[in-house]
Amino acid sequence: MILVVGGAGYIGSHLVKELVEKEEVIVLDNLSTGHREAIDTRAIFVQGDLGNEEDLQMIFSSYPIKAVMHFAAFSLVGESVVDPLKYYENNVAATLTLLKVMMKNNIKNFIFSSTAATYGIPNVEIIDEQTVTAPINPYGHSKLMIEQMLSDFSKAYGLNYVILRYFNAAGAHESSKIGESHDPETHLIPIILQQLLGQREKVAVFGSDYDTADGTCIRDYIHVTDLASAHILALEALLSGKKSAEIYNLGNGLGYSVKEVIETCERVTGVKANVEMADRRAGDPARLVASSQKIYNELGWKAERNLEQIIADAWKWHNNQQY
Ligand code: UFG
Repeated sequence: MILVVGGAGYIGSHLVKELVEKEEVIVLDNLSTGHREAIDTRAIFVQGDLGNEEDLQMIFSSYPIKAVMHFAAFSLVGESVVDPLKYYENNVAATLTLLKVMMKNNIKNFIFSSTAATYGIPNVEIIDEQTVTAPINPYGHSKLMIEQMLSDFSKAYGLNYVILRYFNAAGAHESSKIGESHDPETHLIPIILQQLLGQREKVAVFGSDYDTADGTCIRDYIHVTDLASAHILALEALLSGKKSAEIYNLGNGLGYSVKEVIETCERVTGVKANVEMADRRAGDPARLVASSQKIYNELGWKAERNLEQIIADAWKWHNNQQY
């Protein structure tokens, strides 16, 4: 049985939908940002907190957990600058409790959701796992601290882990039953699609004077279903003993500017956006584009869905919005 912490959230719920096809799954989530209805009905659900030793011990004593996948983090860069305590408390301290209780129960397989924010402002066009990590905000720091702990725990206690550094997760499940449902929403693609649906007045482009071809920030958008499939491969690699301490980037390898994303949304949906230029948002690097060559070479994973597909699936979900 696999424990998915944060399985009611955006990325966790998409992973659970794939994982229940292969494994028995138990989800632990406190529903602070996730949605109960987004959890596949084939998974067992426990409402509880990853920072609560009793909740964790109850699960480890009651179920034969062979691996833990951890998605339960706060992930807004701007918020982390304003409220770093929230980020260090949940993303670092609570995760440390999870790791402690795992070690106590001799559970040695762990998959960790990390982020491109660990790279800060990279000095290369295409970021690979050798690129220097130098976060520029508390969110990125909080993820990198856990990465360090995992490396130390691996050497000291024999913990096996795979760290997956996501670039910009987007899109929705092909069933349109689950998608990206944040409140408040801060991410570019859902904001554009909400505007196209008339749910917000305009799309503000945060900065048009960056050192990029059209002056707007470039990101690497990755379909949430492609992220889910990478997790399944990582889990299989851990459980088979093929991998014991790895870090992989997860991206498409293609960069799209904010303007290009807006144009693609307009093309896919056939609706024109109401766009305004705005000031830069604090903490945004000009360009974040991944090389995912390492996970392709080692586990055979590559992103299969392009930006059009991401937007088409997200649009379908926004029109049919459930959870
Ligand atoms: N943007 C706008 N207008 C908006 C919203 C976003 O112009 O209304 C721009 C941002 O400035 C940025 C780009 O669109 O240049 C993408 O912004 P998102 O907020 O969608 O995503 P981020 O790149 O800021 O962050 C995401 C995750 C983080 C993660 C990061 C890693 O939310 O958790 O990707 O690449 F750290």
